[in-house]
Formats: sequence, structure tokens, C-alpha cells
Amino acid sequence: MVAHPARRYDYWLGGKDNFEADRASAREIEKRMPTIRVAVHENRWFLHRAVRHLAGLGIRQFLDIGSGIPTSPNTHEVAQQGAPSSHVVYVDNDPMVLTHARALLASDPRGRTAYLQADLRDPASILADPELRATLDLNQPVALLLIAVVHFLRDADDPRAIVAALVDALPPGSFVVASHGTDEYMPAEQSAALRAVADAQSQIRTGTEFAEIFQHPRLELLAPGVQSVASWWPEQAPQPRPPVDQVAFNALLARVK
Ligand SMILES: C[S@@+](CC[C@H](N)C(=O)[O-])C[C@H]1O[C@@H](n2cnc3c(N)ncnc32)[C@H](O)[C@@H]1O
Repeated sequence: MVAHPARRYDYWLGGKDNFEADRASAREIEKRMPTIRVAVHENRWFLHRAVRHLAGLGIRQFLDIGSGIPTSPNTHEVAQQGAPSSHVVYVDNDPMVLTHARALLASDPRGRTAYLQADLRDPASILADPELRATLDLNQPVALLLIAVVHFLRDADDPRAIVAALVDALPPGSFVVASHGTDEYMPAEQSAALRAVADAQSQIRTGTEFAEIFQHPRLELLAPGVQSVASWWPEQAPQPRPPVDQVAFNALLARVK
């Protein structure tokens, strides 16, 4: 069996939906990055802050690609806490996430959620999916969430074109939220060790490389710019804050013009 990112991430978050191959791979990465559990929790808390912020701005539709095995609170729980009528579409390519989709589909009756098993590398089929079209109105603003998933796209997959295809389908007033694995806050030695294990399945990138993927004529990067997830609006995060060198994820928020 091959380790899968969703189940490895579930293991680091303390979940039970993972197999020995996932745990072995997770431990290999953890040997090189002993603070990975701090990092994944920080990434999750960034997701919560960003969704809460967008719900506060009036966003009522969310497209969460690379949703992961459900870990409460999930995107719809955070969004519907602020606005029960929110609609959320989850997408993941791991069949195991599908077996847990019930937790993602437990929408507030005033809102709606849907789950698609699909691949981020095929944005056209995600956008054309009848279930997505029945749940989201693409003429109204949507928040596109790409949280800790773009680093599973290699440069050869052309992540910038994939993001552009998704952004092109969103009306003005939409938002894009993303986080991405990085080694830029680590000592060189640790970074080399991490790249050696990460490269098999994912591609960690610097903040500059991450930002380049989101360069699009209709995307405006919003404050505070590309930041470690730990320092993205830190005053609203659980305290105390860890140092950024323990948190190997960068984050960004952009508005669709
Ligand atoms: C690290 S988890 C992140 C989960 C959640 N977004 C979060 O940040 O808490 C990455 C998720 O992306 C999914 N994934 C990886 N590559 C994908 C692809 N090409 N298409 C769709 N999902 C993908 C994995 O199955 C996994 O569930």
C-alpha cells in the first residue's frame, strides 16, 4: 500500500483514519521535521480564521478542494456558524475521504453541502460537475479554498494554469484562500532532508514560488500578503503563537477582481 497525503495528515492531526503505510511515511517526514504536528494544527487554524473572516465579509459559498478526511470543525461548520445558509462543496481525490463524506454532508438544513471525488489536476471536470452546479451559483461570489493541497501539484502539472482555470470561473467579489508547504523558515540542513522525502509525492516551494502560482490578472493579493500560517492575523489565532520555523506552511488570501 502506498501512503496517501489525506491519511498521513489525519495521523498528524491525531485521527484514526490511516494505515501503517501512511504512519510509516508520516514518521519519516516527522524525523526530518519534528514540529510537523504543530505545523498541521496551525494550518488547520488558519483555515478556520480565513473561513470565519470570509463569512464575516458576506461570502456564502465555498469550494474547498483537497478537503481532507473530515476533522471537526470542517469548513461548512465554521461557515454555517456565522451564516447557516452557507453552501459548501468539498472535493478530494482520496477514495477514503469519500467513505467519510457523511460528516461533510451534515449540513445545517438552512444551507447545503456536497462532496465530489475529483482531481484538482482536472479543474474543468470539477467545474462542470452537476453536483457542484446544483450547490453553488457561479454567478455569485465563491471562496475557493486550496488549503495544503497545491504542494501536491508538481511544476509539470502546471499549477498556475490549474489555478487560473478555477479563477476564470469565479465572478468578481470572489476570494481565493491557499496554504502551501514551505522550507523557507528552516535551516538549510533540515530543508535538504525534508525535500528528500517530500519530493516523492509533493513539491515544497518558497513563498515567492507559491505567490507566482496565484499570479492572475484578476487576482489581487490582500494584506497581510504571503505569510507563515502562524503569523497570518496572529492575534485571532490560539495563543501562544509558535515561532515560524516550526510551521512549514505559507498562506495567502486574494480577491477576485
Ligand atoms: C494535507 S491535506 C489538507 C486537508 C485540508 N485542506 C486542510 O488543510 O486541513 C491535503 C488533501 O489534499 C488531497 N489531495 C492531494 N492531491 C489532490 C488532487 N490532485 N486532487 C484533489 N485532492 C488532492 C489529499 O487527498 C488530502 O486530503
